[in-house]
Amino acid sequence: MPLSVHFHDQRPQAAGRSLREEVLAGFAERPKTTPPKLFYDRRGSELFEQICRQPEYYPTRTEELILAHAAHDIAEIAGQDASLVELGSGASRKVRLLLEAMHPASYLGIDISEDFLRTSTQRLAADYPWLEVHAACADFSRPMSLPDGFGGEHPLAFFPGSSIGNFDPEEAQAFLANLHELLPEGGGLLIGVDLLKDREVLEAAYNDRAGVTAAFNLNLLERIRRELDSDIEPGTFVHRAFFNQADSRIEMHLVSDRAQDVEIEGERFHFTAGESLHTENSYKYSAESFRALAGRAGFCALALWTDPQALFSVHYLQRA
Ligand code: AVI
Repeated sequence: MPLSVHFHDQRPQAAGRSLREEVLAGFAERPKTTPPKLFYDRRGSELFEQICRQPEYYPTRTEELILAHAAHDIAEIAGQDASLVELGSGASRKVRLLLEAMHPASYLGIDISEDFLRTSTQRLAADYPWLEVHAACADFSRPMSLPDGFGGEHPLAFFPGSSIGNFDPEEAQAFLANLHELLPEGGGLLIGVDLLKDREVLEAAYNDRAGVTAAFNLNLLERIRRELDSDIEPGTFVHRAFFNQADSRIEMHLVSDRAQDVEIEGERFHFTAGESLHTENSYKYSAESFRALAGRAGFCALALWTDPQALFSVHYLQRA
């Protein structure tokens, strides 16, 4: 890593459970469940980037469109001395739109995937020589703090892509409350949130015709085979994604196409034919329901932008 990126390893403090512990605990649950953060090894992060380019997956391009229109308003609200803290990858064009409009003195990227974080922050440092670039490897679903040496009294946290939707509403509120702790008074939070809409549009986004979302989902089983001692066969599972209207969420599952036993780290797990491993929820909100959730975590709403078809929303919140 070139000297121009300041790397902060926050993993010991935020380590949480290992892949082995998460998988063994999740496979022992009824129904079997794994947390979506397990998708993001290097291959999973690459597949996710590909999902974002699929024609059916509207969130990425729509959020980019919104940000391109709103970037100067955002810069004005954030003020001249704001710094930018991005939760998630720094690889996307979205953060570049903000960097170019805001011209902050410093940027901090936080991501759980070290490889991906290193590559993306190095690229930002190369492309924006005037920017002081920091990278913190951490699990941002857990309490965290801004690393020592990261300047900026007026941080604007940026959490794009509707990643908040991968938490259930209680976790989302707890996550926002963590961010409330992380930010100083008056600090801002710019957050992208996918909106409720027709089932067909939602379901198509998670069942792209090229099969990239299916590959992303199945990569979890490949990761288990690669990194753990396991005989699980990804080819015996099928990707399934559907909208659960009652809970206002897309659910992703891996469905066993046969009755089978799989072994992981010396433990045996039985799947009946058609039994699923629940791998992800992606909650969808109305603008009002999301504002109410953020309000319960101590944020007030300063601004809201959507696209003409009301597919996606970007909220500017302030630590109250
Ligand atoms: C990262 N997250 C917001 C994506 C989503 O839409 O819930 C992850 C994803 N899963 C399948 N496609 C995309």
